[in-house]
Amino acid sequence: MESRDRVPLAATIPSSCLHEIFRAAEVRERETGTEVVKLHVGDPYFDPPAEVADALHAAIRRGDTKYTSVEGVLELREALVEKLSMENGLDTAVSRVFVTPGSAQGLTALLRSIVEPGAEILLPELHWPVHLQQSLFAGFRPVFYPLGPGFRPDPEAVLAAGTPRTRVLLLNSPANPTGVVLDADTVHRLLEIAREQGWQVISDEAYEHYVYEGEHTSVAALERDVPVAQRIVHSVYSFSKSAAMTGYRLGYVVTADDRTADAMRVVQEAGIIAPSTPVQYAGIAALHARSAIESNAKLVSHNRNELLPPLRDAGLLAELPAGGWYALLDVRKTGLDAETFSSRLLDSKGVAVVPGAGFTLRPTLGDTGRVLSLDSAPWARSLIRIAFCGSPELLDIGVKRILDFVRDLAAE
Ligand SMILES: Cc1ncc(COP(=O)(O)O)c(C=O)c1O
Repeated sequence: MESRDRVPLAATIPSSCLHEIFRAAEVRERETGTEVVKLHVGDPYFDPPAEVADALHAAIRRGDTKYTSVEGVLELREALVEKLSMENGLDTAVSRVFVTPGSAQGLTALLRSIVEPGAEILLPELHWPVHLQQSLFAGFRPVFYPLGPGFRPDPEAVLAAGTPRTRVLLLNSPANPTGVVLDADTVHRLLEIAREQGWQVISDEAYEHYVYEGEHTSVAALERDVPVAQRIVHSVYSFSKSAAMTGYRLGYVVTADDRTADAMRVVQEAGIIAPSTPVQYAGIAALHARSAIESNAKLVSHNRNELLPPLRDAGLLAELPAGGWYALLDVRKTGLDAETFSSRLLDSKGVAVVPGAGFTLRPTLGDTGRVLSLDSAPWARSLIRIAFCGSPELLDIGVKRILDFVRDLAAE
């Protein structure tokens, strides 16, 4: 075979649907010279607490700019152990806490640390596309568990989706893109199933501070009394959402047990050597800025409560999301599929949203793990995702333009 005919494995992994809409919004801004209302981006309109920038500058001026240990600065990891105990109910130790350049890198490293040849991972059928990419890059074969009414997982359906090759169950609460917050009973049953089946659990808690209904349950808190060597829940957290530090690139992973921590140490050494040193000092400051984190949650909660109800009243949104930064609208009644709806909305009203099918991609894999083909769930082809973490002024304009567009379509 000619070398130009060979396709690298990575080139068969789908790029996320978010990139397409980013590009389309940029093109429109260039062509029209007007700003697009960006409801596709999960980036907040508020800034990190002021102390964060001060701590970053201070670290740089002090000369705290050398490599740290592969797991991160001890002072930050100690503060994280304390935060995890007080806020999340976790019982962990600094030796199992890894500071990572964003939680996305932490997830990638964690998946690489626990993968086995031929292992399957259970992902929700509506998922953050990066979870799928990360699973494929690590070498997992993804299998999708169904979501029930309101996009909530039914533990018995999750159990039924497992196979003898299942090794990992991925949970994400509050969820992107559905906004679902898992209640404690569901988490309890899912953990029981995982334990009985011999699965490990990855709990992505990036949106832990954005809960508007119910309470956030950290899955690993339910096994705080289990001996460390028998624990199965790995947890992943982010500074991006809680402290609005998206561009700092700072997150952390708590491995369930020491064996995984040992593997993670090697993966991180090979991948990053160490997280950015000054940014870790910024993270320590963020952990102390409790009131800023609480007020960030109030700002997004205000957007949800005040600006999303007209979408519900217009029959586009079944219920207000219980958590997170995103709402899934169903545009079926307009007669358009979500792709057409999104591109015409961008063209005619200058509002960018993400069509839902890209959150349901299902690859068919060959024996070597190469993606042979991709499919998406037919029922998701009328869904669009909007982010409600933007400024209330722009969100208000965006929502009004969506409603105008739906009215225009009805009049056509
Ligand atoms: C569910 C989920 N997990 C993790 C992340 C990654 O966040 P970061 O890498 O900025 O910590 C995101 C970002 O959008 C997300 O939606």
